[in-house]
Amino acid sequence: MDMEVESYLRPPEIEKPPYPAKVVTLATGGKMVVRQVDRDAVPTLLRAIKPTVEIARDYYDVVGARLYAELIGWYRYRVRDEFCLVGQIDGLLVGIVNSRSYSPHTDISLHTLAIERGLRIGAHLFASKMEYSIEYLGRDEVLITAESPIGFRRWMIEYGLEKREGQHELGGATPYALTREMYFKNKARLVAGERPVPKEIMEIAEREIKIASERDIREKILGAAREIQ
Ligand SMILES: CC(C)(COP(=O)(O)OP(=O)(O)OC[C@H]1O[C@@H](n2cnc3c(N)ncnc32)[C@H](O)[C@@H]1OP(=O)(O)O)[C@@H](O)C(=O)NCCC(=O)NCCS
Repeated sequence: MDMEVESYLRPPEIEKPPYPAKVVTLATGGKMVVRQVDRDAVPTLLRAIKPTVEIARDYYDVVGARLYAELIGWYRYRVRDEFCLVGQIDGLLVGIVNSRSYSPHTDISLHTLAIERGLRIGAHLFASKMEYSIEYLGRDEVLITAESPIGFRRWMIEYGLEKREGQHELGGATPYALTREMYFKNKARLVAGERPVPKEIMEIAEREIKIASERDIREKILGAAREIQ
């Protein structure tokens, strides 16, 4: 690789304190580890996202295709200051979230994708990335948009987000803000999880990111409907 040209192509990157892993107890009693992953996890995550780009239901196709592109962009050093958190139950990947930092004051929420459904896994992962931006990166606000009615209900309504002027970087859609003040107002109700993660649970999560088969991913997302499009 010509590193001189590459140095022009790579956007600059800021140092970030890490997101400390946590464990969320789901309504079923299942334990979901939420942890940050590095670039080297991307090829594995892409295997789980790939089947979603053919599922139109609940806008998995739009979100899956965009998330796929964002993660490749990050893997190949073409996106600035992106971070990615994953949810795992017994090592199995059940959801992915990503964001990127726009400035020391503002993060931009990119995507939330739940592979296991009906347990508010997406809601817990979204709350985790807000927690990272506000509490650990010290941002004043996060700019958010929604591509699906479920997303709109989960973020704009549940958090009471503030509508802003201008365009979100996801297709120019209307941006909404989660401010530091709104985050702390909603924290007790919406941000779950305990730290530290017990050693034996963390070891299983870190040993391998297990990916369900393509068929299982489709079935989990579609549930009873099975309307693969
Ligand atoms: C938005 C999203 C992250 C929310 O994840 P979540 O909090 O885990 O919520 P779920 O998707 O499991 O469930 C949402 C609702 O649909 C229902 N549902 C839909 N399909 C389901 C299925 N196959 N199995 C179980 N429940 C299902 C749930 O019961 C739930 O109802 P509720 O709101 O009354 O609790 C997730 O729906 C998702 O990944 N959607 C596609 C991508 C997307 O829209 N991302 C957000 C962009 S703004």
